Amino acid sequence: MTNDPTNAIRYLAARLASAREVAILTGAGVSAESGIRTFRDAADEATRTMAGLWKDFDPAKLATPEAFDADPALVTRWYDLRRRGCLAAIPNAGHVALADIQRRVEAGGGRFTLLTQNVDRLHHRAGSAGVVELHGSIIQWRCTLTGQKLTPDAAEFRALPCPSPFDARGLLRPDVVWFGEMLPEAALDAAEAAIKSCDVFISVGTSAQVFPAAGFVRAASANGAFTAEVNREPTPISGLVDACLHGASGELLPRLLAAAWPSR
Ligand code: OAD
Repeated sequence: MTNDPTNAIRYLAARLASAREVAILTGAGVSAESGIRTFRDAADEATRTMAGLWKDFDPAKLATPEAFDADPALVTRWYDLRRRGCLAAIPNAGHVALADIQRRVEAGGGRFTLLTQNVDRLHHRAGSAGVVELHGSIIQWRCTLTGQKLTPDAAEFRALPCPSPFDARGLLRPDVVWFGEMLPEAALDAAEAAIKSCDVFISVGTSAQVFPAAGFVRAASANGAFTAEVNREPTPISGLVDACLHGASGELLPRLLAAAWPSR
């Protein structure tokens, strides 16, 4: 295991450049440099890190089906505010590097899967293709009765709770996975397939505390993949991976890309 950033980048870059199949898991940290708050970070002026959402808000009162049933207007307002924050944010250099890594792997005939716990759609906007959204999307909402989905425009929801255009008795809810809900089956299947067959697995910007995603690195490693972590801080998986890149993903991922494919 190496965790000197320069050595770790070189070490991981060599594996990445020769991989047949790459899987990358991202969490809120990859979007932190786009100004989107993470969930569990402590505020840190030196690295301009904002306090995580769960430091100020109680997930039990906002991110569960019970919370929505109890106070749909409150939950709608909170998610709509976050939704508009995501729409206003711009993908950062880390998102862009991940899209470039995908293009390089695929151009070489390899397979690439991007698994994200993020609901902000910044990977899509940076050019990543086939993104697997494990926790759904805040950009898309769905009718509580019919399940039909729609993508609201950037304006604030005016009627709270926002009524569903599909069934007058329904409400619109964010198409995210709340605590106590199942992850989308197709996303879980895609993750399982990627974990089984990848030869390189990289975890980026996640505290590795929320399962099932928190277990992906261990599973990939057990299947023989070379594993790595990119994170500002050590996490519960730091001791398990073959390479640790400690620092900001917006700085480290472009360096990793350049080290893996130096001619670009
Ligand atoms: P967390 O807030 O738990 O963790 C964010 C991680 O990103 C931390 O380990 C930070 O050290 C790291 N980080 C912060 N800024 C970074 C940067 N610029 N570069 C690299 N790393 C950075 O967020 P997640 O792990 O994504 O689920 O949280 C997982 C799930 O918990 C979320 O999807 C959400 C939340 O509750 C639901 O809402 C269902």
